[in-house]
Amino acid sequence: MKTRHQWLFSAVLVQLAWLGGPVTARGAEVRQPGYNYDQAKVPAYTLPDVLTGLDGVKINDAKTWQTRRRPELLGLFANQMYGRTPTGKVAVRVEQVREELALDGLARRKQLRLVFEGNGVTRHVDVLMYLPAKARGPVPAFVGLNFNGNHTVHSDPGIALPTTWVRDDPKKGVVGNRATDRTRGDQATRWQVEKVVGRGYAVVTAYYGDIFPDRADGRRDSVTALFPGEPGASDWNAVGAWAWGLSRIADYLVGAGDIDARRIAVHGHSRLGKAALWAGAQDERFALVISNDSGEGGAALARRGFGETTKRINTVFPHWFSGAFKAYNDREAALPFDQHALLALVAPRPLYVASATEDQWADPRGEYLSAHHAGPVYALFGKIGVGSAEPPAPDRPVGDVVAYHLRTGGHDITDYDWARYLDFADRHF
Ligand code: GCU
Repeated sequence: MKTRHQWLFSAVLVQLAWLGGPVTARGAEVRQPGYNYDQAKVPAYTLPDVLTGLDGVKINDAKTWQTRRRPELLGLFANQMYGRTPTGKVAVRVEQVREELALDGLARRKQLRLVFEGNGVTRHVDVLMYLPAKARGPVPAFVGLNFNGNHTVHSDPGIALPTTWVRDDPKKGVVGNRATDRTRGDQATRWQVEKVVGRGYAVVTAYYGDIFPDRADGRRDSVTALFPGEPGASDWNAVGAWAWGLSRIADYLVGAGDIDARRIAVHGHSRLGKAALWAGAQDERFALVISNDSGEGGAALARRGFGETTKRINTVFPHWFSGAFKAYNDREAALPFDQHALLALVAPRPLYVASATEDQWADPRGEYLSAHHAGPVYALFGKIGVGSAEPPAPDRPVGDVVAYHLRTGGHDITDYDWARYLDFADRHF
């Protein structure tokens, strides 16, 4: 049991975390004090070999990877880190479909509500789509969750406000946990809607709080309530639920006809990059996966202990990962995998990992090395990874099927990042 003092301490930590989080500090450097930012102090570590199974046998062909090692690793990540994703079906209805021309005729704006029912509870996820107006058939799509509500991705007044809990931000008039018009377009630079749609892609997004409100007690209002009794499912948490939500959006897209089901990219920034990677690892319908500054619990190698640590993330965000993951606080070396294995689960599909120079909290070098060490799995499929064991200089993208860049600047998604992702998608789609 925690003492009152310890609870207070945790509460202060949570507040501090948010100072560096996405709500207040767009583009700011996230560098919490008291953690290691010195490469010379990274402990010596050995990564579990991504190709060697728990039985000690090293695999050397794509088929054995696909049929044996891949399912084994998915099981390990589920049981030890993200929690198991329920496989049971819930009833889904599509409601409130509205379509209009928007953005001065550039896009068709489509909004709809996915309503889920199970265990006597109802949850909904509001989906916003911008489709290129001039498209004559199904288009490729970029799918990603947003932090503050669909209305924050563009100032377009036609976007519906979220009806679920949002984090208060009194400076922006968000009080009583209700979204208001004042934050319309607040995150627009992170979405670059005109640019993406102008290049022929659909922008598809939903508010992550519809799926799992991002607070320690968010579970009770989350989609996890739809699945009470599945074995092990009591252990999945926010990151697992956000990934589940991305797959439910994919279900809709695959069936709806506007989107080319073979060209759906999933992307996410920071904690939502962790969710995008977990979604991309599990759900092979995501044909291309992008991790933007996903850091600890995402692309970054846990064993490096650089910037954020397992203990820190499990303490400040107790609702993100499974209970089992907490056993690895200060014990990263005991993990039966590291995050390079998560990236390898995307193989042979194209994977883009991006970091930013000032985002030391997310361990840019650890994100690069992770991509590098996923390489042997891509090689099984005859695909080329990021190659060199040394990260590239800032603003020098590298790689083919696995690509990487280190952008100059802070923890953010910028037009620079989007330009690279669009070129990458053009190349592979
Ligand atoms: C915090 C957290 C990170 C996370 C980030 C974000 O800084 O420690 O793990 O990626 O918030 O989501 O912006």
